[in-house]
Amino acid sequence: MSAKFKLKNHENWIKFPIDRLSLDSELMQRFLENCPEISQGLITKIVASGMGSNYSFYLDQDHLGLAQNDQKPIYVDIESSMKYHSKVYFKKGHSNEPFYKSIKSESMKVIDITCGMMGDSLLMNFWGFDVLAYEANPIISCLILNALKVHPLKRFKFVTQEFNWNHYIDGVVFYDPFFRKEKEKTSPKKAMQVLRDFDEFDFLSRPELDEKVVVKRPKGSEDIWEKPHHRYQGKSVRYDVY
Ligand SMILES: C[S@@+](CC[C@H](N)C(=O)[O-])C[C@H]1O[C@@H](n2cnc3c(N)ncnc32)[C@H](O)[C@@H]1O
Repeated sequence: MSAKFKLKNHENWIKFPIDRLSLDSELMQRFLENCPEISQGLITKIVASGMGSNYSFYLDQDHLGLAQNDQKPIYVDIESSMKYHSKVYFKKGHSNEPFYKSIKSESMKVIDITCGMMGDSLLMNFWGFDVLAYEANPIISCLILNALKVHPLKRFKFVTQEFNWNHYIDGVVFYDPFFRKEKEKTSPKKAMQVLRDFDEFDFLSRPELDEKVVVKRPKGSEDIWEKPHHRYQGKSVRYDVY
């Protein structure tokens, strides 16, 4: 629910092909001027990695989007996501949601170590958690930084960095990794497909923490570590608690 397809009028969007940003200093300057929330260092990282060379950033007056071959850009729309969550949980509440039950703790602090397009992070924030979110991919990080500029959030911190267990300070850890086999399945949502195109991160090993670690898995898929202490079953995913 976090990524929306808008783009009614293609002409209103300014296109920044990622592979041109390093070659065209004027284009780079224009991009950075329009997106002051994004550091030159982050763009340098994107260019140096060579990732996303067939993708372009698109900018309208409100949002930074990302698309390949002139398809409709995806972007993170915090306001719409929060409105959607208000509508969904207004009457029924969230205390019986498997996801909520899996991450619930006294401190109400969560580290989302795989932020992606913010879907899970926003839901946790909506439910009242203090969220510290990490995203390793610099291209996806640009979309997140822009979304947070457009719609700043309380109780939400974002770090554009690959998470490893040395970064852990406190709170429940929420981990939503891709798995190689899942990559082969067809018809994921558009935003997930984009994330998959960029996915290059290894599975983290099982940590030794006092706090719980919650791993989101597709229903029926194998465990990423040994058998969890508890599983909360959702409709199409489950939450394994270690
Ligand atoms: C399956 S997606 C997460 C989707 C996310 N839960 C959502 O609701 O949009 C995995 C994301 O985690 C990122 N990632 C993978 N390993 C990471 C790590 N060690 N640290 C930070 N980000 C990581 C990937 O770049 C990708 O964007």
